[in-house]
Amino acid sequence: MKNILLGLLICLGQISFGQESFLTDHFPFPIGASLNPRLLAENESYEYRAKTEFNSVTAENHMKMMMVHPEANRFDFNKGDEIVKFAQATQKRIHGHTLVWHNQVPKWMTEFSGDAQAWENMLKNHIQEVAKHFKGQVTGWDVVNEAFLDDGTLRPSIWSKNIPDYIAKSFQWAHEADPNAILFYNDYGQDGKPKKMQAILNLVKELQARQIPIHGLGLQMHINIHSKNEELASVIHQSQATGLAIHFSELDIAVNPKNDSTFVYTESAQEAQKNKYEFIFQSYQSIPKKQQYGITFWNVGDKDSWLRGYFKRPKEYPLLFDESYRRKPLYSSLLNLSKNEK
Ligand code: XIL
Repeated sequence: MKNILLGLLICLGQISFGQESFLTDHFPFPIGASLNPRLLAENESYEYRAKTEFNSVTAENHMKMMMVHPEANRFDFNKGDEIVKFAQATQKRIHGHTLVWHNQVPKWMTEFSGDAQAWENMLKNHIQEVAKHFKGQVTGWDVVNEAFLDDGTLRPSIWSKNIPDYIAKSFQWAHEADPNAILFYNDYGQDGKPKKMQAILNLVKELQARQIPIHGLGLQMHINIHSKNEELASVIHQSQATGLAIHFSELDIAVNPKNDSTFVYTESAQEAQKNKYEFIFQSYQSIPKKQQYGITFWNVGDKDSWLRGYFKRPKEYPLLFDESYRRKPLYSSLLNLSKNEK
């Protein structure tokens, strides 16, 4: 009986969604989420939110090196293509993530041996095969992800070790393969880390001076309720001043960043989170319209957040939708912010 009633309520809810307001109807820039094809196939509530609440899509994992290029002579685009198919069937923009990263690299790449030319050929081939495969489907690419450490030095990785000037080359290769794609440098945690921020700004200046195609900056925005507004504002301001497209590319706002096992998601934690989300959306609205590539949430609901899965933080509630994929109260606050926008 309880189940029948619950089913009825869900149905009614879905029917009335027709008149409901959506963030995507009210903000003039794309609003996206990173998606997982398994959850799309297995979880109806997840799929429903993915379908109705967003107009942009990023593959959470399935366009990364490890997934699309499992062996030196074999690409596997099946799962990435599933995401593309879903996005196309539901008229969403697709953002490509990511061509070069130090993480989620297949074993054969980490074990690769050869001289600088062989390394270059290997990376160029990867970038160009992937970019060509998704050409005309993705609007943009995170070409290089997380290349700098907090102190602003280049992150040690197989790429920085084996390929001199790999960042510039990667942008050039991606551009050759898909000349229409908007090419991003993507990174996290620039707030409170002025050296990291400066390294990114220096990279932009250098690439522009060398006429290497870079078109956008991805600010991941994995932040928390204690992140400082002044520091975030400064990062946003400095990024925007480059004149490049700005993507808040992986937004989530953690409420329990220290993973306290006794944490309770109280009203005051929800209020602090709401305030931080409002601040982020307001800051994004202040970016000149022609630079607004969009805001992408990292995952759909708290249940599928990577903070729970990857970081094993069960008491984390970073997103707009709760464990049952219901909108949280903070959703309406963001809707209110959007008034007069579109
Ligand atoms: C994360 C995914 O969410 C996890 O499922 C995966 O196990 C590890 O990667 N910065 C990025 C994303 O650029 O690709 C990461 O995604 C989160 C941090």
